[in-house]
Amino acid sequence: MDSQPLFPTLAPTIEWRDGKLLLLDQTRLPHEIVVEHVADAAAVWRAIHELRVRGAPAIGVAAGYGLCVAMQDARALPIAQFRAELEKRAAWLDTARPTAVNLSWSLRRMTKTARECNAQDAAALYDALVEEAVRIHREDIALCEGIGEHGMPLIAEGNGVLTHCNAGALATTGLGTATAPIYAAHRAGIRFNVFADETRPLLQGARLTAFELQQAGVDVTLIMDGAAASIMSQGLVDIVIVGTDRVAANGDFANKIGTLGLAIAARHYGIPFYVACPSSTLDFHTATGHDIEIEERSETEVTHLAGRRIAPENIKARNPAFDVTPHALVTGFVTERGIVHAPFERSLKRLFAAECNAA
Ligand code: MRU
Repeated sequence: MDSQPLFPTLAPTIEWRDGKLLLLDQTRLPHEIVVEHVADAAAVWRAIHELRVRGAPAIGVAAGYGLCVAMQDARALPIAQFRAELEKRAAWLDTARPTAVNLSWSLRRMTKTARECNAQDAAALYDALVEEAVRIHREDIALCEGIGEHGMPLIAEGNGVLTHCNAGALATTGLGTATAPIYAAHRAGIRFNVFADETRPLLQGARLTAFELQQAGVDVTLIMDGAAASIMSQGLVDIVIVGTDRVAANGDFANKIGTLGLAIAARHYGIPFYVACPSSTLDFHTATGHDIEIEERSETEVTHLAGRRIAPENIKARNPAFDVTPHALVTGFVTERGIVHAPFERSLKRLFAAECNAA
């Protein structure tokens, strides 16, 4: 599917063109705009694992197309063999990253499509898979629009908005999730400013959020992660909006490491704390935040900065990429169907009854 980038200077986050998967390499931003052609299953797995495509919704879209790429060399197989390979390759792609549920959500949709498709040969089944991947992509754009529409009224003239990591256009194929209300308010002419946490260790806030908001003409100020509580204490933040990688059935949610500390600080200072959450990130299979697997990444992301060691040799380091925030610290979930308030388990199940029953 041909996609339009949000900013004229950028390539789209993900593009499916003439049967090829093209990804904007997010590890090179903001200095270089490099589009990678991801040509086989191993390259898809690596692109997700190494965060060249990242952000829960973008991972979901990339996985749909990625499974098509992974099956391209199997199109001449007898259909039963194609189906068996599909299940195997989908299960393997699902191991690329553990926390963002969009990865397994998208791959489950793709394998379900294949199981329910009565195509007579592998080539026809492959075409049905591409159609489903395009549907996932189109839906992602619409989910972001819906979050923007419902979240925009949360931002008032003169507000300070704080966000963490990148839950922006680069993390999706549309307006972003946490950034969708920001872009919608900006387009509506509301004047406000955004504080973007730099987001150690991989600096998604500095490299991606600050970059895309600046490109869009939004008033954005980059701060160190450690400065967020102090900025709140000075009365400069009226609302916190973050994205999420997985929302458990009870409303506990995982997001980039540092989110929990922000939620605690926001509660201390009486600042509303919202989570932008498309239905593709709801996980009714997971009862509470305790059941969410947290990705632990390489220690070198902590001991090194821009390729240079900054810590002593042989120091022990930990690098959990995400944390879990308990639902009690959440003011509301901004979804494509409206804002969900406590009690979250009941409200989420009511608004997303179809998704919950299908889970
Ligand atoms: O490790 P990343 O960059 O994939 O982490 C991304 C985040 O934590 C985002 O906040 C989350 O995926 C929501 S993206 C709309």
